[in-house]
Amino acid sequence: MEIVIQQTAEDIASVVADSIEQLVRSHAAPILGLATGSSPLPVYRELVRRHAEDGLSFARTRAFLLDEYVGLPQGHPESYREVIRREFTGLVDIADDHVQSPDGFSSDVATAGTRYDAAIAAAGGVDIQLLGIGTDGHIAFNEPGSSLASRTRLKTLTEQTRDDNARFFDSVDDVPYHVLTQGLGTILEARHLVLVATGANKADAVAAMVEGPVSAFCPGSVLQLHPHATVLLDEAAASGL
Ligand code: GLP
Repeated sequence: MEIVIQQTAEDIASVVADSIEQLVRSHAAPILGLATGSSPLPVYRELVRRHAEDGLSFARTRAFLLDEYVGLPQGHPESYREVIRREFTGLVDIADDHVQSPDGFSSDVATAGTRYDAAIAAAGGVDIQLLGIGTDGHIAFNEPGSSLASRTRLKTLTEQTRDDNARFFDSVDDVPYHVLTQGLGTILEARHLVLVATGANKADAVAAMVEGPVSAFCPGSVLQLHPHATVLLDEAAASGL
């Protein structure tokens, strides 16, 4: 695992955007794995800037989201499909039908995960997977206790994650209880994992992910098993190392 410590979130965004730009410019059909949450937002802002000012084109790019809430109405502004459209894909030249997310709106969520994994595999797999980490060590929505080999599936959120995500809703009561999330086994199949964490509230989770045992109690620790994982931190998030 490669650990990169930068001064600011913007410095981190610049390093990550360099990797993505190199992929997108050189690859005939690049596949990005996109994450929601606040941590990747500076990366998306930097990519949008490079698209507008440097002509960085995403016309050949396809993208797969990590996860999606279950139970929100289609088009809900906090559904991850809408969030990623608003923060990134709707602001660059990636075709809307080149962006896929687990189908949390499906009437058959039980099989939606299998269909999603098949779609990722059919596209050729993810080249660069962006990740954040939750304060309890979750990645995507793989809460502590998730199988290290898990595939995309229905999960129930912990109270802590619902509380953490309540800031995006009017109240915690509006945060869905269920989600569809790529499994840890699915995420590990991406060719390059790039995890971004900033702020002191992530320090414990980062320390457990990087220096703790590989364990389902800290889902982020699966990055230790990946041959090409890069963790980008500011000093506050790195303070427990
Ligand atoms: C949510 C997302 C995760 C994200 C986490 C942390 O739970 N499903 O993908 O990593 O939030 O979000 P933030 O970056 O806002 O702290």
